[in-house]
Amino acid sequence: MKIGVFDSGFGGLDIFRQIEKILPKYDFVYLGDNARAPYGSRSQETIYQYVTESLDFLFSRGCQLVILACNTASAEALRKVQQAYLPKKYPTRRVLGVIIPAIEEAVQKTKNRKIGILGTESTIQSEAFVAELKKKDSRIRAFQKACPLLVPIVEAGEKDQRIVNLSIENYLKPLVAKNVDTLILGCTHYGLLLNNIRKILAKSNRKILIVSEGKIVAKKLADYLRRHPEIERLLAKNSKRDFYTTDLTEKFRRIGGRLMGRKIGVQKVSLN
Ligand code: DGL
Repeated sequence: MKIGVFDSGFGGLDIFRQIEKILPKYDFVYLGDNARAPYGSRSQETIYQYVTESLDFLFSRGCQLVILACNTASAEALRKVQQAYLPKKYPTRRVLGVIIPAIEEAVQKTKNRKIGILGTESTIQSEAFVAELKKKDSRIRAFQKACPLLVPIVEAGEKDQRIVNLSIENYLKPLVAKNVDTLILGCTHYGLLLNNIRKILAKSNRKILIVSEGKIVAKKLADYLRRHPEIERLLAKNSKRDFYTTDLTEKFRRIGGRLMGRKIGVQKVSLN
C-alpha cells in the first residue's frame, strides 16, 4: 500500500518535498487537481465533492493513507471525509490534513496567545483554524486574514518584488497591529513566499514566529506512522513516486519540477 498526497494543484508539492525528505523509503502517489484549481474561492459543497472524487482515485491507486496537503481541502472537507465518507466507503483507510499539525506547533510556540492566520478566502471563512486553536486553548486569540492575491501571484511566478511585497504588506498589516507573536501560513503557496514574509515582518520590529507547514506536516506524519504500526506495517517501501494531475500542462512540469528540485514524470487523469 502507498501514501497519497493530495492538493488542488501543485502547491502541495512543497509539502510533499519535505515529506519525502524525511520518509524517503515509502511509496507515494501525488495528485494535483489542477483542472479545477484554485479551490480557495469555491463553496464547501463543491470542495467536498472534488476532494472525495480525488480520494476515490488515490484509494483506487492503492493508498492506505492520504494527506490532504491543501489547507482549503482540509478546512472545508476533512471533517466530513472522516465522519461520513470514510466510514461508509473506506473504513480501513485514513485521511489526515495539514491544519492540526500547524495549530499544534503554533499553540506550543506562542507566548502571548495571540496567533495570526493567513489563508485563502474559503479557509478563512470556514473558521477551521480558529475553531481548532480554541479547542487546544480557549484563551488563545486568533486573528485571520484572507489573502486572495497571493496564490495568483505565486502561480504567475511574479518577479516584480514591489508587487509581491506590497500585497504581502497589506495582508500582514492588520495582524501585526493586533500584536500577534505567531503567524500561521495557512495555505500551501505561502511557504513559497517565506523569505518575503520574513523580511517584511523584520521591518515591523516585532518578533513574530512564522509557522510554515512543509516541515511540520512531514514531522507529524513520521510521528503518526510511529504511533500507528498497524498502518505503517501495510506500507510498501520501494521509494516509488507516481505523480498525477487532472490538467497536464507545461506549467505543472515547470513549477512542479521547481518545487520538487528535480524533473518529475507526470501523468494525466480524469476524475469524473
Ligand atoms: N492549496 C490551496 C490551499 O492550501 C491553495 C490553492 C487553491 O486555492 O486551490 O489552501
